[in-house]
Amino acid sequence: MTVVGIDKIGFYTPGMYVDMAELATARGEDPNKYLIGIGQSKQAVIPPTQDVVTMAANAAEQILTPALKAKIGMVLFGTESGIDNSKATAVYLAHLLGLPQNTRAIELKQACYGATAGLQLAADYVRVHPQAKVLVIGADIARYGLRTAGEVTQGGGAVAMLVTADPTILALDDVSSYHTEDVMDFWRPTYRTEALVDGKYSTNVYLDFFKTVWTDYQQQTQRSIADFAAFAFHLPFTKMGRKGLRQILPEATPEQQASLTAAFEASQEDNRNVGNLYTGSLYLSFLSLLRHGQLVANDRIGFFSYGSGAEGEFFSGVLQPNFRDGFAEEQLAKQLADRRRVSVADYEQIYTSQLSNNSRDEQLAVGEETATYYLAGRQHEQRQ
Ligand code: HMG
Repeated sequence: MTVVGIDKIGFYTPGMYVDMAELATARGEDPNKYLIGIGQSKQAVIPPTQDVVTMAANAAEQILTPALKAKIGMVLFGTESGIDNSKATAVYLAHLLGLPQNTRAIELKQACYGATAGLQLAADYVRVHPQAKVLVIGADIARYGLRTAGEVTQGGGAVAMLVTADPTILALDDVSSYHTEDVMDFWRPTYRTEALVDGKYSTNVYLDFFKTVWTDYQQQTQRSIADFAAFAFHLPFTKMGRKGLRQILPEATPEQQASLTAAFEASQEDNRNVGNLYTGSLYLSFLSLLRHGQLVANDRIGFFSYGSGAEGEFFSGVLQPNFRDGFAEEQLAKQLADRRRVSVADYEQIYTSQLSNNSRDEQLAVGEETATYYLAGRQHEQRQ
């Protein structure tokens, strides 16, 4: 059978962040609640000039050469921060990137699970069409509102993955376990720009779904925790994944508990400094694990994807020998290091100055924007 999986990964988040200790102080909270209790140090601040399409284009540009672009046969764009009820973000993206017109370009939605749906559908497609190359995107902006309990778990950014046969980074196992239930733990009605959430309940549903799919995966595969070098979790905030890991650690030996915990620390490093990017969070965590962890070829990694509403999936893959060639380490490190810290007052101002949610034409101030792709405004009700 054709070996299929993730060939390359790119990541983009805008060049600004707000410090979580500073935000805690401004909100009258103990900084350790945010830094330790929630497990977040910095939160990406998304300027009005970046939306999910431009962020996805900036992420995809890192992994696509002109020769590769010419071979992309499908774009699957997972997002829950869509910009149009009809036209897919993937169509805008394919145009911006100059992809061939004989491509399929589709948007997928199921909260934070959308990119996993894209990854699995892409993998199945490549299993049938081994020459195919599929671009899978997870891009979102997490907004709960100023001074809400969810504010500390905001963030944003995009992950772009190329799914191919004989992948450079990760060969996906062809077994996975998934679970869907109609649950009201978090939702974003189309008339709102900010999420509604039953916070505590959502964390419990996340853990219950993890238990369900992990148990089912083990029954399907006869694998146990001993078969894994690391787990990557959907990280709405890093403490959430830590709780997930704690749920299964007692199944491991003390020695393996130590190595799985060390791998978790590596996997949460970048998310701790970006925040939640919904569909992209699990894949940023995977990238963080690759960048900061001690993994070697043939290590098996477990993935827990969770999207409120709710859908969960546990799947796995095996690290390939040249996995470090599949991402641009120096560029990623520089991108995160070069970000500018903004004050809480500036973050609040940027947060409230998004492109208005009405039909008015607007030009955005793009003075500080340094990204290759950015949103300039709206003219005749069309994004510029
Ligand atoms: P909260 O009520 O502000 O926080 O809401 P808390 O009072 O529960 O405290 C949080 C933790 O900080 C607790 O630790 C406290 O003990 C600790 P825990 O008991 O959980 O281990 N703490 C401290 N630690 C150290 N020093 C201190 C201190 N004080 C307190 N001084 C909540 C937190 C996450 C609920 C809120 O931020 C929220 O509603 N966030 C949004 C919802 C969310 O992220 N849910 C996650 C699961 S659902 C999901 O993952 C899907 C999602 O990504 C969306 C999608 O699928 O599209 C969200």
